[in-house]
Amino acid sequence: MNAPNAPVALDVASLGAPMRKPLNAARHLPSEFYASSQAFRLDKERIFLTHWLCVGREEELPKVGDYFTRNVVGEPILVVRDGSGIAAMQNQCLHRGVEVVFGEGNARRFICPYHAWVYDVGGRLTRAPHMDNCTADLSAGQLPRLRTAHWRGWIFVNFSENPQPFDEFIAGYEAPLWFYRSDQCRLAGKVVVDVACNWKFVAENLLDIYHVSTLHANTFGKFLKNDKFDFQYIPGGGVSFEYESAPLTTDGSKAFAMLPWVQRGLGFAGKAAIFPNMNLSARADSLRMWIIWPVSEGRTQVHIYMLMHEDSFDARDFEGKLARYKEYMRSIVAEDQVAVESMQRLAASGRFQPGPLSHMEGAIHHFLNRYVELVGA
Ligand code: FES
Ligand SMILES: [Fe+2]
Repeated sequence: MNAPNAPVALDVASLGAPMRKPLNAARHLPSEFYASSQAFRLDKERIFLTHWLCVGREEELPKVGDYFTRNVVGEPILVVRDGSGIAAMQNQCLHRGVEVVFGEGNARRFICPYHAWVYDVGGRLTRAPHMDNCTADLSAGQLPRLRTAHWRGWIFVNFSENPQPFDEFIAGYEAPLWFYRSDQCRLAGKVVVDVACNWKFVAENLLDIYHVSTLHANTFGKFLKNDKFDFQYIPGGGVSFEYESAPLTTDGSKAFAMLPWVQRGLGFAGKAAIFPNMNLSARADSLRMWIIWPVSEGRTQVHIYMLMHEDSFDARDFEGKLARYKEYMRSIVAEDQVAVESMQRLAASGRFQPGPLSHMEGAIHHFLNRYVELVGA
């Protein structure tokens, strides 16, 4: 018998069954997957603690001692360049677990803010003051390392002791994501947005081409040309597709130097998702990568990386163009926020009856089928 306050297990099989049907007969997921702490715990255990997760760009850490911190579904991590490369480790002091460093920057060592235990940039414990009487052997102290991998300029980590080999994981993405040669681009800027909804509403919204001409009618929606999409479904929950649109400026003109490998003209656009939380958008003159971090069942933080070709940076008034681009991006995100936060409020009320899907929601269907399969396993 369950203890009186034990959380009720989520019946993933029956709640997720309507989504497991073919696209033309499927229904969206019910509220429980978006607004319950049980689902959030499953998301963490079955997905975020077992999958390869993109945490940032290598070029964010050019010098020894450069670091940034992240919170991965409640797990604080530290990503740092030490003498031998980029390492990721749990950001929790070996004494009492306080985060040894916050934010980002450059350091020669990390000094825990609570009792001043000292770590070198590789996470080795080098000093523990006032511990001389203690019998514990601290000489091999090391912040626990996470597995890391690198792909086209991106840093990935995995919390699992026994993860899927990274090469095997990424192999399925290489061919369909031909247009994302992000290793040949440079990071121009980053926008971080906090959204009051579950992470999956953000992930789905970024794959939702159905809403674009409606919700974004006043911004980039007016440039969308198709309503048929050739979704390429990638095993493991990923997806990729191309369509006709325009670069992201208010008038549809290009703002930055063309990406030389995109031969299909100004109207080229591409969209992809690397499961679970990395979403990619390509235009003829720029790339954007969105990393989606769950904070709680009803809160999400999105990191938007803006990448351009090298030639863009030399253009006259590059800074001005970039500022306008960021502003335009924020206005588009604000449009999306209205919808995804509205869905979250209804999910929290528990009175939502999930509706059917359009053929334009095929990418969402593929993503959520993988999701239900994983959390129901
Ligand atoms: S918790 Fe870090 S030194 Fe005590
Ligand atoms: Fe949108």
